[in-house]
Amino acid sequence: MNPSFLPSRRKVLQGLGAAAAATAFPRYAYAADPLKIGLILPMTGPFASTGRQITAACKLYLQTHGDSVAGRKVELIIKDDTGLAPETTKRIAQEMVVQDRITVLAGFGLTPLAFAAAPVATEAKVPMIVMAAGTEVIPQRSPFIVRTGFTLPQNTAPVALWAAQNNIKRVFSLVTDYAPGHDSEKTFVNRFKAAGGTIIEAVRTPLRNPDYAPFLQRAKDSKADALFVFVPSGEGLAVMKQFEERGLKQTGMKMIGPGDVVDDDILVSIGAPAVGVITSMHYSAAHDSPENKAYVAAMTKANPGMRPNFHSVGGWDGMHLIYEAVKKQPNGNGQQLVEAMKGMKWTSPRGPMMIDPATRDVIQNVYLRETRMVNGEPWNIEFAKFENVKPSGDL
Ligand code: PHB
Repeated sequence: MNPSFLPSRRKVLQGLGAAAAATAFPRYAYAADPLKIGLILPMTGPFASTGRQITAACKLYLQTHGDSVAGRKVELIIKDDTGLAPETTKRIAQEMVVQDRITVLAGFGLTPLAFAAAPVATEAKVPMIVMAAGTEVIPQRSPFIVRTGFTLPQNTAPVALWAAQNNIKRVFSLVTDYAPGHDSEKTFVNRFKAAGGTIIEAVRTPLRNPDYAPFLQRAKDSKADALFVFVPSGEGLAVMKQFEERGLKQTGMKMIGPGDVVDDDILVSIGAPAVGVITSMHYSAAHDSPENKAYVAAMTKANPGMRPNFHSVGGWDGMHLIYEAVKKQPNGNGQQLVEAMKGMKWTSPRGPMMIDPATRDVIQNVYLRETRMVNGEPWNIEFAKFENVKPSGDL
């Protein structure tokens, strides 16, 4: 047990106010202390699919790898932050540190929520595993953050290159107006232009209650060769509906982007309109590997009707990272666990991945995919691979 643990928890405690402080007091950990993983996720609201996917993957990890590691009983504590309220995420993180005495914070479905929790991880000195949020700067917000998901630059750069090399000259860009959208837009615009392409217009849609119809009409009127889209997972259905209803595909306009718009969670619901979309992404449920076949089979069996998406592997690999770090440092404090995570490499259902020791961020393969009908269902079929893509998206 690390004595420096106590003052840091006290600081967080002060942030909670006197009433909460009276009921929670630090105590010493010992060898058999449970490994408590505090998962903060949107379980309700427009981004509930992220929470559903990640909790399903974390629970499956526990079922298949056992509910104890290095002699410590593993407990998952899951709380709903509703997806759009950073103050709620921060409060839950504080409560998990002080009252639940979690060992690790994890989850974080959207960037503003990860930003909100980062200072809590720093003060409490607990590892914070970002399983979903994808803005590049996130790990810089706390030395205790380690990411197992992806970054938007990573998932955008390959499709920018593909577009420039595949006779796409003029692009209309549409992104959600918040940090990951800005990351994705910047990566696409810079790389596509550098490769000789032209951006006709770059529009941004609100995160809350977006109406894609007027933007897609403008895209149609622009007569671009392609529509570049980034929207956070869960929103793809609404975008694809408008793309279909306004007949953009019939004009010959290609839809391209990072893979969030054709997220596996909603792809079957989107159906035929998704066919022909070209995306780059670190994970497809159709990824052809024994690890992924086993993963998809187990996830589908445990969660009938659910196809695992890219957020689910962020959760699965986050659990792997925590288990492996605890094996190396069975009673390690937060700092020691983060150190143990740095440089770790393994084969995920997505393919090979590693935690960059310098940035605590994920380095992984990113695949180009085309959405195709296979046996009557749409799947994102990988057709090219960029190996070991850095969080910055440098190829
Ligand atoms: C994010 O808010 O960082 C985020 C959420 C969902 C995505 C991608 C990025 O699909």
